[in-house]
Amino acid sequence: MNIDQCFNVEQFRRYAKKRLPGPVFHYIDGAADDEVTYRRNTSAYDTCDLVPNVLAGVEKIDMSTTVLGKKIDMPLFLAPTALQRLFHFRGEYAVGGAAQKYNTWFGISSLATASIEDIAGAISTPKMFQLYYHKDKGLTYGMIERCQAAKFDAMALTVDTIVGGKRERDLVTGFTSPPRLTPKSALSFATHPYWTLNYLFREKFELPNLSRHVKEGSDVSISIGDYFSSMLDQSMDWKAAEDVRKRWGGQFCLKGIMSVEDARRAVDIGATAIMVSNHGGRQLDGSRAPFDQLAEIVDAVGDRVDVICDGGIKRGTHVLKALSLGAKACSGGRLYLYALAAAGQAGVEKTLANFREEIERGMKLMGARSVADLGRANLRFR
Ligand code: LAC
Repeated sequence: MNIDQCFNVEQFRRYAKKRLPGPVFHYIDGAADDEVTYRRNTSAYDTCDLVPNVLAGVEKIDMSTTVLGKKIDMPLFLAPTALQRLFHFRGEYAVGGAAQKYNTWFGISSLATASIEDIAGAISTPKMFQLYYHKDKGLTYGMIERCQAAKFDAMALTVDTIVGGKRERDLVTGFTSPPRLTPKSALSFATHPYWTLNYLFREKFELPNLSRHVKEGSDVSISIGDYFSSMLDQSMDWKAAEDVRKRWGGQFCLKGIMSVEDARRAVDIGATAIMVSNHGGRQLDGSRAPFDQLAEIVDAVGDRVDVICDGGIKRGTHVLKALSLGAKACSGGRLYLYALAAAGQAGVEKTLANFREEIERGMKLMGARSVADLGRANLRFR
């Protein structure tokens, strides 16, 4: 398969499925329980239609936006996701390099396979760090301090993983970090020798932002669900979130806000942004889609914080719909992870090129010269 012929997320998904051993593919592709929320995250965009205006003089359009204090060249960014070196041996470097080329945000997870310091040294595009609030406060606060020293541009505190979601595909495949060789998984590793050789003979797999404190994930295999349920602090509350915000002191985002009430509380504790997100449907199945919840959240807090629509985005027109409702920007994980698995940095660049092109074409067809021209008047719900 040639990435020049990959024009959309679904094609990259099929490509990734061929390249990755089954347990790794299904870790990315899967979600919680019956995956109802996962599917709704995307189908929610089909509940409304764009209403274009014409004759707007759209020879030049400007799709830049400012989010978390940084101007980015396109209204879509690469949300932080875990374990990227399992998907391609250049992992976070490939993703950051592609984001840099398109001048947009990207993020690394606490469960990243590259260290805070190495990423800061290698990548100059705006960077956010996705903080998981661990029981071990030396670890949690240590990561905040490392991000300060490394001059990360924003901190995103994950608030929707207080326990692990029930990801049944992972239970079936036995997916763990690091991957475990079992009779069941052996065949899928053996039939993906390119992946397996990269995994075995490149730099040792570890989670360097955690490994000084916890062996799980780097040296001791654990499922992501069990990691969340056993390592993260279930007593985390609004006071804890405010304390993280104060310790960090910079641009601060809550990742995983879904209710208007919580959006208001995020403003109260001094958040500068919220990511309206349900963790890609990987946590609470049966919960609402970010796009379905967007309008009421924007109405309540959109003038005080940047509202980011995270989840289900597969097309440029999905971005246009979210912006029309008042999101400052959109973000996603799978939309670039399939491309990373398919072709490394070149794949992520191609997916960003596809989105840029679709957003530009869509804005022109909508008669929108800048993202400020997109509003509720451009949208009708069925
Ligand atoms: C996930 C975490 C690690 O697997 O973000 O959903």
